[in-house]
Amino acid sequence: MTFTRIAGTGGYLPEKVMTNDDLAKIMDTTDEWIRERTGIKRRHVAADAETSSDMGLAAARNAMEMAGTDIADIDLIIVATTTPDKVFPSTACIIQRRLDIHNCPAFDVQAACAGFVYALDTADRYIRTGGAQTALVIGTETFSRIINWQDRTTAVLFGDGAGAVVLEAADKPGLISTHIHADGKYEELLQVPQGISSGYDVVRKERAYIQMNGNAVFRKAVATLSSMARETLSANNVDKHDIDWLVPHQANLRIIAAAAKKLDLSMDKVIVTVDEHANTSSASIPLAFDVAVRDGRIQRGDLLLFEAFGAGFTWGSVLLRY
Ligand code: ACO
Repeated sequence: MTFTRIAGTGGYLPEKVMTNDDLAKIMDTTDEWIRERTGIKRRHVAADAETSSDMGLAAARNAMEMAGTDIADIDLIIVATTTPDKVFPSTACIIQRRLDIHNCPAFDVQAACAGFVYALDTADRYIRTGGAQTALVIGTETFSRIINWQDRTTAVLFGDGAGAVVLEAADKPGLISTHIHADGKYEELLQVPQGISSGYDVVRKERAYIQMNGNAVFRKAVATLSSMARETLSANNVDKHDIDWLVPHQANLRIIAAAAKKLDLSMDKVIVTVDEHANTSSASIPLAFDVAVRDGRIQRGDLLLFEAFGAGFTWGSVLLRY
């Protein structure tokens, strides 16, 4: 049988950092409010000309370097992004061109903050069924472009960045199981209501920015993350105490802490980067994963649980042995 293993991880964060105090200079907010409600202290913001493909490419190169991957071996590229460089071609095709890779399938997955888990699920199916041997899976976002900097209820929550993994075919897991879900009935609780086919409204520009019912999203995220963890563990007959590390989507420290509590995991078994990165949507899990691999907390052989929740709503999890 063929399985999927993670051969390398990579991350990239834009140079520019905005602290909560920086935000307090341009909107009616405080460092204290943001830290208390979200755990966020600062976020990285892309430079004016910096795109999702720029950041995704840098993260991919880091992951390939760690894995020792030869570019010629990459035979699948999947990019999770909600903030692509262009309407088309896909950000995956742009990154493929910039890596000078030709002919392999390359496509984007759009599942908002659950995008990376959706992309991992897809790549795992390619590898397990022999459709690919070595895949690049990237999460990259320039959320600063869809933030309404006049809206303090959303502007303080997000940041930019990219994370990536190299996946390889292997004779043992690796990825143990992936679980993805969606329920489109929650569309209006978290959205950027403007799009291509519904028309770009230059008069009502606020429609090109994130709109969110924060309280409703918060409640649904906490409930969903705990049921998702139960689903994943029981599907694999794994006891929650066997998990070495929880690597959750980094939206809000209170959501992360609530999910950890349901799993009976102490916070020192949870990878937290939301304080430094804010919510980087589909980049948040691979970025957090890369940070913890590189600082030595996550070791080969550790049992990891990834959990994500995002607009749609979409949600998903991955149980894996690193
Ligand atoms: N600074 C200061 N005050 C603020 C700010 C701010 N940045 N934002 C809101 N407030 C005020 C509100 O106006 C309100 O004031 P009022 O009581 O006078 O009306 C007060 O603070 C409380 O606001 P709430 O919205 O009730 O605050 P809450 O404790 O719910 O926290 C938050 C808000 C942080 C947004 C929380 O609801 C949350 O984290 N929700 C989930 C968000 C999330 O995870 N989104 C991403 C999902 S993933 C994806 O796909 C993008």
